[in-house]
Amino acid sequence: MLSTPLCLPFFFLCLKTTFASSLRASSFSTTRLCSHEEAAALLQFKTFFSINYTVCYTNYSRTESWKEGIDCCSWDGVSCDNVTGHVIALDLSFDCLSGTFPSNSTLFLLKNLESLNLASNDFRLSKIPPEISQFTRLKHLDISDSQFSGQVPAEIAHLPKLVSLNLSDLFTSDSDKLILETTTLRNLVQNLSEVREIVLSGVNMASVDPCFFMNLSSSLTTLHLLGCQFRGNFPNSIFCLPNLNRFCLSGNRNLTIDLPSSNWSSPLQRLYLYDMHCGRRLRESIGDLKSLQSLTLGCNLEGSIPASIGNLSQLTYLSLSYNNLSGQISSSLANLTQLTSVDLSNNQFSGPIPASIDNNLSLRMNVTANFTLPKLTDVSFSSCNLSEFPNFIRHSNGLQSLVLSKNSIHGNIPEWICEKDDLQILDLSHNNLIGKIPNCLPKSLSVLNLQANYFDGNIPFGFPEGCGLRNLNLHGNQMDGLLPRCLVNCSMLEVLDIGNNSIEDTFPHWLESLPELQVLVLRSNKFHGFVQSTKESPSFLRLRVLDLSNNDFLGPLPVRYIENFKAMMDLYRDEGSPEYMNVGSYQYSLVVTWKGAERELQKILTVFSSIHLSNNKFEGEIPDVMGKLSSLKGLNLSHNNLIGHIPPSLRNLTNLEWLDLSSNELAGKIPDELVSLTQLSVLNLSNNHLVRRIPQGNQFNTFGNDSYEGNPGLCGIPLSKSCDGNGTQSSSFQEKDELWRFGWRVVVLGYGCGVVFGLLMGYLVFRTGKPKWFVSLFDGRPSQSGRKMRKAKRLVQRRR
Ligand SMILES: *[C@@H]1O[C@H](CO)[C@@H](O)[C@H](O)[C@H]1NC(C)=O
Ligand SMILES: *[C@@H]1O[C@H](CO)[C@@H](O)[C@H](O)[C@H]1NC(C)=O
Ligand SMILES: *[C@@H]1O[C@H](CO)[C@@H](O)[C@H](O)[C@H]1NC(C)=O
Ligand SMILES: *[C@@H]1O[C@H](CO)[C@@H](O)[C@H](O)[C@H]1NC(C)=O
Ligand SMILES: *[C@@H]1O[C@H](CO)[C@@H](O)[C@H](O)[C@H]1NC(C)=O
Ligand SMILES: *[C@@H]1O[C@H](CO)[C@@H](O)[C@H](O)[C@H]1NC(C)=O
Ligand SMILES: *[C@@H]1O[C@H](CO)[C@@H](O)[C@H](O)[C@H]1NC(C)=O
Ligand SMILES: *[C@@H]1O[C@H](CO)[C@@H](O)[C@H](O)[C@H]1NC(C)=O
Ligand SMILES: *[C@@H]1O[C@H](CO)[C@@H](O)[C@H](O)[C@H]1NC(C)=O
Ligand SMILES: *[C@@H]1O[C@H](CO)[C@@H](O)[C@H](O)[C@H]1NC(C)=O
Ligand SMILES: *[C@@H]1O[C@H](CO)[C@@H](O)[C@H](O)[C@H]1NC(C)=O
Ligand SMILES: *[C@@H]1O[C@H](CO)[C@@H](O)[C@H](O)[C@H]1NC(C)=O
Repeated sequence: MLSTPLCLPFFFLCLKTTFASSLRASSFSTTRLCSHEEAAALLQFKTFFSINYTVCYTNYSRTESWKEGIDCCSWDGVSCDNVTGHVIALDLSFDCLSGTFPSNSTLFLLKNLESLNLASNDFRLSKIPPEISQFTRLKHLDISDSQFSGQVPAEIAHLPKLVSLNLSDLFTSDSDKLILETTTLRNLVQNLSEVREIVLSGVNMASVDPCFFMNLSSSLTTLHLLGCQFRGNFPNSIFCLPNLNRFCLSGNRNLTIDLPSSNWSSPLQRLYLYDMHCGRRLRESIGDLKSLQSLTLGCNLEGSIPASIGNLSQLTYLSLSYNNLSGQISSSLANLTQLTSVDLSNNQFSGPIPASIDNNLSLRMNVTANFTLPKLTDVSFSSCNLSEFPNFIRHSNGLQSLVLSKNSIHGNIPEWICEKDDLQILDLSHNNLIGKIPNCLPKSLSVLNLQANYFDGNIPFGFPEGCGLRNLNLHGNQMDGLLPRCLVNCSMLEVLDIGNNSIEDTFPHWLESLPELQVLVLRSNKFHGFVQSTKESPSFLRLRVLDLSNNDFLGPLPVRYIENFKAMMDLYRDEGSPEYMNVGSYQYSLVVTWKGAERELQKILTVFSSIHLSNNKFEGEIPDVMGKLSSLKGLNLSHNNLIGHIPPSLRNLTNLEWLDLSSNELAGKIPDELVSLTQLSVLNLSNNHLVRRIPQGNQFNTFGNDSYEGNPGLCGIPLSKSCDGNGTQSSSFQEKDELWRFGWRVVVLGYGCGVVFGLLMGYLVFRTGKPKWFVSLFDGRPSQSGRKMRKAKRLVQRRR
């Protein structure tokens, strides 16, 4: 478990009191504390919702304990006043309730309610009923992530006793988000004089002038406004609120908050300002925030890290990634002895290499030889211009995650890495490292990413029984020899990428028993021979990405395997948002060939699926059974010796966006059935022996000449050669524009402070400069919020 600090709600409503039941016991179960009216109101309320456990991944709804004839104060989720018997608190969070929330709901009869928690249910985009103002005694209201929609009613400001308000709405699509208008916000701010916690993350406040937040109650301790679509300037007087200790304004890309140059009087413990702007420089005054425990600043800061950062002695989490910070990395970081996680990636640090003492390692960090950060567990110095391993890493005990990718570190992997017994994640990708990969790497590793270096020699043979490796990425090195058979000991292996090396071996059919293997990339090596299953039993059941291109494989396409690629057949059966592959907050990346070019996927969605078998010597026909792999996004069989017809069964690949069958010996007509591939944006059938009229309609109206060239027998649009005989005439050549080509759907749905799993609906995110998605935002474990969070957790657990 990576120990990173959490952005957890610091206060927890303890709604289930045991008092009522003990009182009942002492009065021989005859006293009904709960009035008939309130019991009836609750029962009636319950009838509005259905519960379908297969959808929400919980196996128990508290409302199941609600039965007539039993004192309602003893029902799960219900708490009563121990004197009057009135229901005062209702907790139905994560309760799998589904249905429209009626505005005449009998719930509003519970006039004494002080606490209402309906978080993470599915109210099917209902409006928040204005009747909510009937709960005049309400202190705690949490209806977060419950699929409410539309405008937040003005009546929300008529709850003067409110102490905590959570309307967070991170998981609905942009068009369905709750909307909060200026007047409502102004009244809210004026009227809620007792409020301590306000969570409005994801609520659309595009029309709100952020200056209204100037007048917030001085009792405020928590303000979360993640991704609220603000524009303009947020008043920095917020930093004067005398009790504010958690503040999150991340993900408001068009918003600026000027960090004060002095007078940060708030006792801030957690501050998140990410994917937004916060003035030019990080000033020395940051050192005034002595209570800070978690600091995330990624807001286009320039200049150097002020030395005063060393004053933040309580700091356990520090992320300054994605700024334009330059100069030397401040040595005062050495004073942060409580730090467990530091991320300085993606800045422009540079400067002379300061003196160093230990082992003649020259350092970019001006720290003394035996300076240690005893608690440091997670280090990310990705894209930091490092040319050496930072020395302090050597001295940090308990290191769990070391990410030094995208620097220009040269030399060998230092042997002391082998002594880091707790290391789970080692990512040294994109550096200039040379030599052999040591055989002694820590057994604790889950992720070993050495992609894009200059390692040579054999892949180490030291994968012992019980090996816990989940992601082994050696892509783009100069390794040779055999693929070590002992890899089968790594029974949790999900990703194996040894592409672009010089491995000389036969197809590793012995990997077929690995139950978790999802991504297998052997491209551009010296693999040879037949690709054949040796087992009768199912194999590669979870494989989604198979890349064998640019090798010397021969013989027929591996029908037996294809028949068993179950994962490629039903990736979409599971409803809900797709998730990314990850270990803790570390996201897997992967180089794929996509639409002809090599690209690095910054994240691998669990629904991404492709097969690349190009540039081998496969022969024979394309088997019909290929049509069963309906989840495939990309299929490349080009540059082989395939013969026969294109099987019409390919029409079943309804998710296919990219199909390349070029440079084979395929003959016959292009099946008209392929017109039903409405996702297809790239088609390459060139250099075959295809004949007759090109199918028309749908995506086929968008492909140009180059999709078909080198097939002298083809005719019809878009070729200039019109069809004769039975084909329809078409003499005018029309170059189709590319209007219909599908772009990458990359839609940021929501991201939360304290939420590890980002939910992006697009299935691919390429590295295009500054990513939209920042893991460091979510410094820690998943919060308990959101059904999707829980689903994600479940998926992770299932994978383990
Ligand atoms: C529950 O949801 C699943 C998936 O949407 C659906 O197939 C099933 O019919 C539902 N069950 C009930 C009882 O509504
Ligand atoms: C629900 O799941 C939990 C843990 O997975 C289990 O302990 C409990 O017995 C289950 N309850 C029901 C009603 O199935
Ligand atoms: C009722 O409960 C409250 C707290 O919930 C407690 O402070 C109070 O003492 C209880 N009253 C009696 C009569 O036990
Ligand atoms: C609420 O209103 C709907 C129609 O708008 C009606 O069918 C329903 O009976 C009402 N429920 C109650 C409890 O009054
Ligand atoms: C404040 O609350 C009171 C009572 O709940 C209500 O009457 C009043 O209209 C509210 N003020 C504003 C500005 O909304
Ligand atoms: C909503 O916010 C409140 C106040 O910060 C917090 O206590 C609660 O846990 C949050 N709800 C969820 C589901 O995270
Ligand atoms: C930021 O502003 C630009 C230009 O006004 C607008 O197109 C964009 O949608 C805004 N982005 C957000 C997240 O509000
Ligand atoms: C860091 O610690 C050293 C030694 O304890 C001290 O001299 C120095 O002033 C500190 N620097 C900062 C910025 O706190
Ligand atoms: C680095 O350390 C050396 C020796 O301790 C010292 O002379 C120098 O001033 C330091 N440089 C910086 C930038 O702190
Ligand atoms: C650190 O350095 C000090 C003084 O240079 C020395 O006394 C101490 O033993 C060293 N500690 C370690 C762990 O090397
Ligand atoms: C393709 O789909 C059709 C109908 O959906 C089905 O009958 C056929 O068996 C499928 N073919 C393959 C190869 O899966
Ligand atoms: C044209 O169609 C006729 C019958 O419809 C058929 O006999 C003939 O073979 C076809 N010609 C070509 C070139 O396909």
